[in-house]
Amino acid sequence: MNIAVIGTGYVGLPAGAGFASHGHNVTCVDIDEEKVEKINSGECPIYEEGLPELLQEVVSKGKLEATTDTITAVKNADIVLLAVGTPMDKEGNINLDYIEKASKDIAEGMKEREEHQTIVIKSTVVPTTTEEKIIPILEQSGKKPGKDFGVCMNPEFLREGTALKDFLEPDRIVIGELDEKSGDNLEKIYSEFDAPIMRTGLKEAELIKYASNSLLATKISFINEIGNLCKELGIDVYDVADGVGMDHRVKRDFLDSGAGFGGSCFPKDVRALIKFMEDKGEEPRILQDTINVNVDQKTKLVEQLQNHYSDLSGKKIAVLGLAFKPGTDDIRQSPAIDIIAELKELGAEFKAYDPKAIENMKQKHPEIEYTSSYQEALKEADAGLILTDWEEFNEISREELKKMNKALILEGRRMSYELDGENRQGVTWP
Ligand SMILES: NC(=O)c1ccc[n+]([C@@H]2O[C@H](COP(=O)([O-])OP(=O)(O)OC[C@H]3O[C@@H](n4cnc5c(N)ncnc54)[C@H](O)[C@@H]3O)[C@@H](O)[C@H]2O)c1
Repeated sequence: MNIAVIGTGYVGLPAGAGFASHGHNVTCVDIDEEKVEKINSGECPIYEEGLPELLQEVVSKGKLEATTDTITAVKNADIVLLAVGTPMDKEGNINLDYIEKASKDIAEGMKEREEHQTIVIKSTVVPTTTEEKIIPILEQSGKKPGKDFGVCMNPEFLREGTALKDFLEPDRIVIGELDEKSGDNLEKIYSEFDAPIMRTGLKEAELIKYASNSLLATKISFINEIGNLCKELGIDVYDVADGVGMDHRVKRDFLDSGAGFGGSCFPKDVRALIKFMEDKGEEPRILQDTINVNVDQKTKLVEQLQNHYSDLSGKKIAVLGLAFKPGTDDIRQSPAIDIIAELKELGAEFKAYDPKAIENMKQKHPEIEYTSSYQEALKEADAGLILTDWEEFNEISREELKKMNKALILEGRRMSYELDGENRQGVTWP
């Protein structure tokens, strides 16, 4: 089938490359000309494991191309996937500017097409958005939904860091459909996927995405709250999590305590659901506390550092890890952003390192020093903070600690290197 993917970010690009690898003809559309040029030359504009290789393969086989021309891409597409960003505005609401602009462009393209086609919302949008905001814009094409064109809401559950694998091997595929024909059309492009498919309504699909992310974020805040108690008790929250997670009703996943969750999804999606519920007259108590615990959690490492240095002014802090999780160059809402800002206020100096995310962090914190290795960052540092659990940080050795001003590593993420407790402390573990 001919597929157009509008928005080639962390969702759109793995989806485009993934569908192209299943034999579909994919056109990726983006307003960012640099991204489009890179994709057409087989170069991957974001870091995601396995994506550069697959992208190069499908581009060289002529199965995927990129363009800035939405109208032509939509005109030629049986299925149009809308995967632009839905960031958070200042009040925590979902910002629909990109969705609305892209939907207008799609409507223009739809005018040029005679055959039936199905428009699929892959971006995360709060319940009723597809019906009340997006479909009316698509109708500006002069066509009738459910008759001249189909509409589906197909939330994406991939995790950055393993985006391509998650896209190709999902736990489930949720198809929210305006009508049966829309759902049937979308289901065809998933025919090679080995995953259960759930067919449901548009609003249900929209809420399944928010409820899933909110539950996962709540699990993290819950275990962080337990972790803070563990720290007081001098016990290891990971032992507690292992014991709790052995219960099949709970599962061990998302019970890794640390310096709080970040990323482009959890903080904004939980906040958007809170705002949406409030607008509907509901009181989202659990979700509000999920956010509150997470905000506080980011300050815990700074407090622990202050236990070692009552005055942080002029202290050299090695920040190891800037991405919000390993396997990605994405720093959106990364705990590192706030922790660096807080320490800066207290007069600390920095040497920061990340294997993939330095260029992105330079946009947020251009003033701090960046190094090309973690060893260099640790040299002569008064303390090291591990904020992303990149595998390479597990190689930190006693020799490297000797080169620090003070051999002290505070972990915001649990690591597995062989150093004794004197030199290392965890945010919620001894
Ligand atoms: N990142 C994730 O892990 C993840 C996971 C599941 C769902 N989602 C959701 O998927 C959506 C996309 O997220 P993302 O992380 O891929 O975003 P992103 O910011 O990485 O990518 C969005 C892309 O859309 C492009 N764009 C913006 N307006 C456009 C337009 N009018 N026409 C064409 N392109 C346009 C941007 O240039 C950008 O390249 C969001 O709603 C997000 O909440 C994200």
